[in-house]
Amino acid sequence: MSESSTQRVLDREPVEQMLQMMSGLWITRCIWVAAKLGISDLLADAARSVVDLAAATETHEDSLYRVLRALAMAGVYKEEEGRKFSLTPLSETLRSDVVGSLRGAAISEMGQVHYEAWGNLMASVKTGEIAFDNKFGKDIWAYFQTDPEQAENFNRYMAASSEPLNEAISTKYDFSGYKKLIDVGGGIGGMISAILAKNPDLKGVIYDAPSVVEQAKGFLASKGVADRCETIGGDFFESVPEGGDIYSMRWILHDWEDSKSLKILENIKKVLPEKGKLLLAEAVVPEAGEPHFSKFFDLIMLVMTGGRERTEKEWRELLEKASYKIERIIPTESFLSIIEAVPVR
Ligand SMILES: C[S@@+](CC[C@H](N)C(=O)[O-])C[C@H]1O[C@@H](n2cnc3c(N)ncnc32)[C@H](O)[C@@H]1O
Repeated sequence: MSESSTQRVLDREPVEQMLQMMSGLWITRCIWVAAKLGISDLLADAARSVVDLAAATETHEDSLYRVLRALAMAGVYKEEEGRKFSLTPLSETLRSDVVGSLRGAAISEMGQVHYEAWGNLMASVKTGEIAFDNKFGKDIWAYFQTDPEQAENFNRYMAASSEPLNEAISTKYDFSGYKKLIDVGGGIGGMISAILAKNPDLKGVIYDAPSVVEQAKGFLASKGVADRCETIGGDFFESVPEGGDIYSMRWILHDWEDSKSLKILENIKKVLPEKGKLLLAEAVVPEAGEPHFSKFFDLIMLVMTGGRERTEKEWRELLEKASYKIERIIPTESFLSIIEAVPVR
């Protein structure tokens, strides 16, 4: 009997499923092109021919057609007679002007720097190094200083991505009794602007890199809370502004490994009043084999920042090491929870 005839023949179904998964790279690159070119915005009012779309985006017509045709096969866009395309519910999510828009996310997560870092995933797996830093010779935050366009898009994306959490944190968490919330690494203010809007007696501070807080000013004004929210530029590894009675961090500690996270927590503890609170808006990864979106985000941290998504046990251990005690973990409808901690003195 020849060797090949003894080889196991694979079932068709897992082969097809695996091929679908493998085409993920091709689909995400096409999504990135469409998002970057603003194709969904161009289709917002009506179907348009690829001739039109190519002219509006200054691209090569036939190549654009092939990309959109492939996306139509995946349910993103609908191909109509005469090489025309229209929106589907999936491509609606890539419009810039919709609440919860994923356009910024697609441009950022599927885009140039993330793509290069993912391409270098094997470096992280083999050595434990941060794939991004290994490829670019600097960390992502230093990189953003050199590429304002990508940085601004990332900051907008962060603000938009806090929308699913905003309703929960601004209504489920009771901010009455607090005077000033300081959002450490607050980006351009996605979360704090929602909290301030729901809590008219509360004042706020965004503390982030100087270039980021510059961009925050316009965002806060657009949300009508600029008069109650100060912006302070600085480095949270050096110090954190004093004067708050409640401090928050959304998606900050997941960016950093434990020793760096401890430094940030230590700097907050130095300025946190006796009865002050620290709120972390972070994923809590389920312990066993349960599915949770944070397990993918954990890989973004692996390749991009060197941080990690943590389980409840890991959060408790980290905060205990920094002399905080977790009082409550409040799940929300988004995949982030609110971890409420107090300093232990
Ligand atoms: C993942 S983003 C989260 C932004 C914001 N908290 C949000 O959820 O929309 C991380 C933020 O940390 C800020 N950051 C990074 N390193 C910093 C540092 N050393 N000091 C202050 N902010 C820093 C970045 O500029 C960025 O805005």
